[in-house]
Amino acid sequence: MSENIEVLLEEKRLFKPSPDFSKKAHIKSFAALKTLRKQALKNPEAFWAKAAKELHWFKPWKKTLEWKVPFAKWFIGGKLNLSYNCLDRHLTSARRNKAALIWEGEPGEVRTFTYQQLYYEVCRFANSLKHLGVNKGDRVCIYMPMVPEAAIAMLACARIGATHSVVFGGFSAESLRDRINDAQAKLVVTADGGWRRGAIVKLKDAVDEAIKECKSVERVVVLKRTGQDVGWQQGRDIWWSDAVHDQSAVCPAEPLDSEHPLFILYTSGSTGKPKGVLHTTGGYLTHTALTTKWVFDLREDDTFWCTADVGWVTGHSYVVYGPLANGATSLMYEGGPLHPSPDRFWSMIARHRVSIFYTAPTAIRTFMRLGVDYPKRHDLSSLRLLGTVGEPINPEAWRWYRETIGGNRCPVVDTWWQTETGGIMMTPLPGATPTKPGSATLPFPGIDIDVVDKDGKSVPLGSGGFLVIRKPWPGMLRTIYGDDARYKTQYFSQIPGIYFTGDGARRDKDGYFWVLGRIDDVLNVAGHRLSTMEIESALVSHTSVAEAAVVARPDELLGQAVVAFVTLQKSASPSPELKEELRAHVAKAIGAIAKPAEIRFTDSLPKTRSGKIMRRLLREVAAGKGVRGDVTTLEDFAVLAKLQSDDE
Ligand code: WTA
Repeated sequence: MSENIEVLLEEKRLFKPSPDFSKKAHIKSFAALKTLRKQALKNPEAFWAKAAKELHWFKPWKKTLEWKVPFAKWFIGGKLNLSYNCLDRHLTSARRNKAALIWEGEPGEVRTFTYQQLYYEVCRFANSLKHLGVNKGDRVCIYMPMVPEAAIAMLACARIGATHSVVFGGFSAESLRDRINDAQAKLVVTADGGWRRGAIVKLKDAVDEAIKECKSVERVVVLKRTGQDVGWQQGRDIWWSDAVHDQSAVCPAEPLDSEHPLFILYTSGSTGKPKGVLHTTGGYLTHTALTTKWVFDLREDDTFWCTADVGWVTGHSYVVYGPLANGATSLMYEGGPLHPSPDRFWSMIARHRVSIFYTAPTAIRTFMRLGVDYPKRHDLSSLRLLGTVGEPINPEAWRWYRETIGGNRCPVVDTWWQTETGGIMMTPLPGATPTKPGSATLPFPGIDIDVVDKDGKSVPLGSGGFLVIRKPWPGMLRTIYGDDARYKTQYFSQIPGIYFTGDGARRDKDGYFWVLGRIDDVLNVAGHRLSTMEIESALVSHTSVAEAAVVARPDELLGQAVVAFVTLQKSASPSPELKEELRAHVAKAIGAIAKPAEIRFTDSLPKTRSGKIMRRLLREVAAGKGVRGDVTTLEDFAVLAKLQSDDE
């Protein structure tokens, strides 16, 4: 990146933690946080070793870190078990009878597992896995709806040292096949189906289709969830209830090497087949346990709700492992956020008295568009902390979230991290960090993040550049499964020897980080670099706009031109006048250079199942090309069809 990303949009509002919140928080002041960060930066190994000592180890480690660029090993020689840390060690205190998981199905049923009950279920399933031929080191693919058994299966794998690969239930049979084959999974855990927006997602059918071409799969365990008839292959398929039927509830947790492979999680790269991001045991757990405790300021009586699916890394780290390692109560929900009506989330928060709520900006913008009536119908006073993750949050949505959902009372933590980082990397600590809407603020203690130019030199405050991580951290991916070479080139070649996140960012004059989105989402208009996110943010700050996605299309004169896809608030209607008004609005917020050359109104934007806007598709639509490539993660194909036909 020869020039810096030009940063033209300034967000000036500052929200300090309330004294009341700070008093009770784990980290109580900005000064305390600064000291912690300084010490941890000087000696990250000592910082993380202290955190690791909070966990239960069967055998202590000999060496905290071995770093042979780009391969890291943490807590070498130590032995532990993640399932033991999430379950067994809570059974000797009053936590034994505390709710570990509270689950709500989309049709409305609720199931609660105490730590004792969850332990029982995990041990029995771990024994059935062994009985079905799964050994330490084998890979198990989990293709499940958001049901407690998904978490039970993950914990059971961790208990016996099998490496799990959770594949999101929204992925197609072909995607599933590729992931099973890449990991060479021996066993698949699935369900007949799951509920999503009142319909059945037929998971077992997809598994049957996928494993026609998967030689490695020997057995398939099927949970009965939705009850319709499913195909069956005798000798290969077994119902979950039959698999656990005769299994004993005694299953000692296997002492595993700190670097034992815990899970593989596939994530899309900008090119090529999905990458199997590999995480290991001791470092990952240290990172997720500490971040859960400090970022969400966890207390014994909290009800913690992270809305992510376990098919994504957020579900791994902040639905299952982080909360359970801390002995917290984690709420899990099966279905769609707007089903059967758009107040489903608010009704759940009220009914379960949720105190910490962690969701994605896309969801927040959707709720914002639906208006304040839905949240206002419910008592949200149990909430004390709000979080966001997954994409840059525009200041308008941040403010709406804080005001309308948090009643101006709850701090908002905007957490930046990636599948590859395992846990949260940049975030406010709610009792300590003054927040600025739209900024993930500062690195978590012990994390060395920087914004650099193409030569790896730190850019001055106020400028933009590549977001990099300078030193290894415990939760970092260890490699791309089976492909060390790709791991090296993907992450450590842009700036030799330093981890490149793929994101652009800038630091403001206070040193706060503003993540500008993926570098490939950065536009270059007439030689000026602009962030799509900044233009989107400007558009969304207009009262008529609900959501916006900005992409570039090739332009002979300017290199690239800005095209904005805009969805309007219900109260607004599209008109040529409104287009002009919006262009002027962007010019006013950022500058004439950022004015979209073209604005297209659309009912909704094409998104992946995890809620990310599919920019590549929009770029192709904007450029007037047909859509190509893998679209199996599209939320709603109708949206795509509409955008294309608009084009004709
Ligand atoms: C983006 C999700 C801005 C970023 C945990 C990153 C964010 C990618 C934020 C990783 C945030 C995530 N602010 N951008 N708070 N959090 N991102 O692997 O571009 O699904 O590189 O991990 O999401 O997405 P992933």
